[in-house]
Amino acid sequence: MKPLTDQFGRTHTYLRVSVTDRCNFRCTYCMPKKGMTWMPRANLLSFEEIQRLVAVFAQAGVTRVRLTGGEPLIRRNIDRLVAAVAQTPGIQDVALTTNAQLLAPLAQSLKDAGLRRINVSFDSLRPERFKSMTRGGSLASVLTGIDAARQAGLAPIKINAVLLRDQNDDEIEDLVRFFSQWSDDTELRFIEYMPFQARWHQGVAAADVQKTLRARWTLLPLRESSGSGPGVGAGPARTWRIAETGLVVGFISPLTEHFCASCNRLRLMADGHLRTCLAHEDTPSLRDLLRGGANQDQLDRAVRAMVLGKPEGHRCEADGGTVFQGVMTSVGG
Ligand code: 5AD
Ligand code: SF4
Repeated sequence: MKPLTDQFGRTHTYLRVSVTDRCNFRCTYCMPKKGMTWMPRANLLSFEEIQRLVAVFAQAGVTRVRLTGGEPLIRRNIDRLVAAVAQTPGIQDVALTTNAQLLAPLAQSLKDAGLRRINVSFDSLRPERFKSMTRGGSLASVLTGIDAARQAGLAPIKINAVLLRDQNDDEIEDLVRFFSQWSDDTELRFIEYMPFQARWHQGVAAADVQKTLRARWTLLPLRESSGSGPGVGAGPARTWRIAETGLVVGFISPLTEHFCASCNRLRLMADGHLRTCLAHEDTPSLRDLLRGGANQDQLDRAVRAMVLGKPEGHRCEADGGTVFQGVMTSVGG
């Protein structure tokens, strides 16, 4: 079968699947305190529907799937979905992005179901600050969750930190020191804050984080990401190894360094809409096609048409940062 190639020659082998737009946290940079409108439950794809769609994508050359949210672990029996996705012919890698609050009791069953690795959103090592940035999260539970993942062999573990000016940008060195304890299976990544709809916060540019790191440590460049282990795994992160501690640090800089030209990802939202680009919602909803009785072939054609309509890129700077639609929680990062 032909690969999923768009009109700019980008081939799509990576699918992010948001399984819910809800979350047990309310991170200040991700969601407003109040007034979130959630997708009605009837609009969410069922596990069976997700499974059918993943099969369509897999047939068209997608080999890697990441489950996201909101918070994917709040969906009951998520390990069953992991198993179904992992067993889909053609899928070679299943990963999950989580806040890890609910991870401890689930880590082993997720691993047994075929999950390979996790990314954890993690922005502060200070319990009070952690609680206020996540609006209620528990640092202790999250650390226990990360530990359980390590015990279960979910590796590498990628820690995603979003730095906000005057909120947690004083923790760069602490984060490095802390995660350096597990430098053989843990990578720390700094993600630039992306303004969704409203600019609630001031982010920190990747170059500034690097400057802070270089003032204290030596950064050795790693080759472009591919393969497995810390520092590798195809994606937009650019990685360095800190010579003194061995920790791999990555930078994801959607604002200051565009990676649209090599974007190989598609995003399936929890309600069945496909986003071929963060800044673009495709129609019709794949859920409507599924529920309308579309067969594998028709779904394949619909997906291909959407991929052909994928825009060349998002232009956050040019548009004053307001171009991203919705909030992260419904798009899944
Ligand atoms: N900008 C950058 N990263 C964000 N995330 C959520 N909202 C934003 C935002 N506005 C991150 C989370 C998580 C990942 C999926 O996306 O911290 O790690
Ligand atoms: Fe939840 Fe992640 Fe958003 Fe925080 S960043 S509110 S953990 S979805």
